[in-house]
Amino acid sequence: MKRFGLTVLLSIALFSPALAQHVDATRGQRDFRACAPCHSLEPDRNMTGPSLANLWGRKAGSLPSFERYSDALKSSGIIWDDRSLDGWLTEPQRMVPENEMPFAGIKDAAVRADLLAFLKDASKPGATQQTAQQGGMGGMMGGMGGMMGGGQDQNLKKLEPGIQVKAITYCHDTYRVTTGDGRSRAFWERNLRFKTDSSKDGPEKGAPAILPAGMMGDRASVIFAAPEEITRIIVARC
Ligand code: HEC
Repeated sequence: MKRFGLTVLLSIALFSPALAQHVDATRGQRDFRACAPCHSLEPDRNMTGPSLANLWGRKAGSLPSFERYSDALKSSGIIWDDRSLDGWLTEPQRMVPENEMPFAGIKDAAVRADLLAFLKDASKPGATQQTAQQGGMGGMMGGMGGMMGGGQDQNLKKLEPGIQVKAITYCHDTYRVTTGDGRSRAFWERNLRFKTDSSKDGPEKGAPAILPAGMMGDRASVIFAAPEEITRIIVARC
């Protein structure tokens, strides 16, 4: 009996710091902003990283719709659960050497616990829409987030005239992009990027969009539905 009492006391002493700062999924939702530029919670919406929908119980590197897993992650044999995810988020490179997630890890155990509490709920089937958006864009970020390249990417199916690309000319070292509102803007050739997005958020065929890139306002990306549209639209003319 005496010994039992002592054990109880000891464990209270050991665990009280953790108890004092209890797990908070709302904080975890804010912390998920570190992940949202690369991970969606919508099923099969893959970005730099795979969708995290239905993550618990999934074998690492096994989402069929994600094409870019490293061999290291695919052959790791990990099944994602509370424990393995805690290890992964502590230091991904230590748990799976040579994996290709560009993320150093979260050293603070309390932050990981909050994040996983949020993620466990938000990754369940049906939970997605709401939480994915809140987690990804977090209030203020909503409008600007897509434009600045952070948060969730904006859907490009219906375009405001100002971001609708009508024509692109190329002269010496300069691209000139004309948009649906009649404006024409010049870019140094190294500051204009050409991209494709074939997903449901990408532009319609033949209707590319231009979005600002970077913080200085001198760079932009033109996003096409398919690669063959790129050379078709650019006319060499001074
Ligand atoms: C800069 C982009 C980036 C960030 C930020 C990032 N990840 Fe990843 N994540 C990836 C990539 C890429 C992979 C695939 C790695 C591989 O195949 O080796 C991945 C893989 C994963 C996996 C394994 C999924 C599976 O299907 O096996 C989990 C879980 C994960 N990330 C969670 C997170 C969480 C949680 C955060 C935020 C704390 C985060 N990641 C931040 C890019 C990122």
